[in-house]
Amino acid sequence: MSANLAIANLRKVFATGKPAVDDVSFTVEAGEIVVLLGPSGCGKTTTLRCVAGLEHPTDGTIHIGDTLVSAPARGLLVPPRARNVGMVFQSYAVWPHMTVRQNVAYPLKGRGLTSDEAARKVDGALDLVDLAQYADRPVVQLSGGQMQRVALARSMVYEPRLLLLDEPLSNLDAQLRLRLRDDLRRIIKAAGLTALYVTHDQLEAVVLGDRIGVMQNGKLLQMATPEQVYNRPADLFVASFTGASNFMAGKVKARDGEWGTVELAGGHTITAWFATGLAAGDAVTIAIRPENIRLEAAEAQNRYTVDVVSQRFQGVQTAYELQLGSTTIEALATGTTMRHPAGSSVTINIPPEICWAYPAA
Ligand SMILES: Nc1ncnc2c1ncn2[C@@H]1O[C@H](COP(=O)(O)OP(=O)(O)O)[C@@H](O)[C@H]1O
Ligand SMILES: [Mg+2]
Repeated sequence: MSANLAIANLRKVFATGKPAVDDVSFTVEAGEIVVLLGPSGCGKTTTLRCVAGLEHPTDGTIHIGDTLVSAPARGLLVPPRARNVGMVFQSYAVWPHMTVRQNVAYPLKGRGLTSDEAARKVDGALDLVDLAQYADRPVVQLSGGQMQRVALARSMVYEPRLLLLDEPLSNLDAQLRLRLRDDLRRIIKAAGLTALYVTHDQLEAVVLGDRIGVMQNGKLLQMATPEQVYNRPADLFVASFTGASNFMAGKVKARDGEWGTVELAGGHTITAWFATGLAAGDAVTIAIRPENIRLEAAEAQNRYTVDVVSQRFQGVQTAYELQLGSTTIEALATGTTMRHPAGSSVTINIPPEICWAYPAA
């Protein structure tokens, strides 16, 4: 039922401006959910539209399963309908004058199914998105989240080879968004679909994706599992876009394979994981996520006594501003107790594996 997607050296240059998609290559295995994550304007939608056939790529190739659907160098371009791809967009895009069932049944028209076969497929799709009991309601009586599930059922009912989703949750209120985010992964997996999902929301990417591709300025910077992206960001942009908010300047003292030591601007020495291409003497920027800094920890490596500049109560966590040499760093401690008032000092530990050195920004 589902097939894999292979994109190689995809480029899209619109008549105006710099390339919207710039030499992007990746695959989506059968049954896998890959999420493209990046800020607005980085080329996510354009990539998705090239896969759907709604945009004409400038260069590169796209395979859906064994079928080459796009190869501009050879003048090959398979039209959207012949690609058998399902799409879900940001707007609900349901037909307001129809019932839920009529909406979901619509894409089956002209596919040569008997009415029994069609009804079975519609019932199956409605079950999957948990809307069976609403089948005969006018679609306009549903909530936003339910309408988006109708759109999802409609995109899956003809068992597409590939499901493309473009920020499908961004028009929903926060609470609904969280619920549907968890549902979406379950529904896509239950249907056994291969999916390419686009979002600017890092949490959505982590919860939904088997792998995440981080994009910036039309380029794919990293394609890896959520755990890898969060623990071994390929570069400073990936690190900061996914939540590392502490940056420390320093100079490489020594490198030993993936690890090395850095002298920080304030004179402290820190052991860190090293990105490729760094050697002794190079200027580096070290990136650290605030929740990875350990307060009152006993480990000897990367252990410092620092001054507390401020503590801010945030309910289930407390945010601390700490002074390490000439650098102010932010640390988060979970729990509802505040323990380190401004003006006190505290011992912190920054485990080397969550401390990443990159060529200086
Ligand atoms: N039809 C178009 N004509 C010209 N430029 C476009 C068009 N569509 C998108 N772009 C440009 O391509 C870039 C990528 O856009 P897009 O793929 O929509 O980004 P994203 O979905 O990541 O926000 C942006 O600079 C955008 O302005
Ligand atoms: Mg977009």
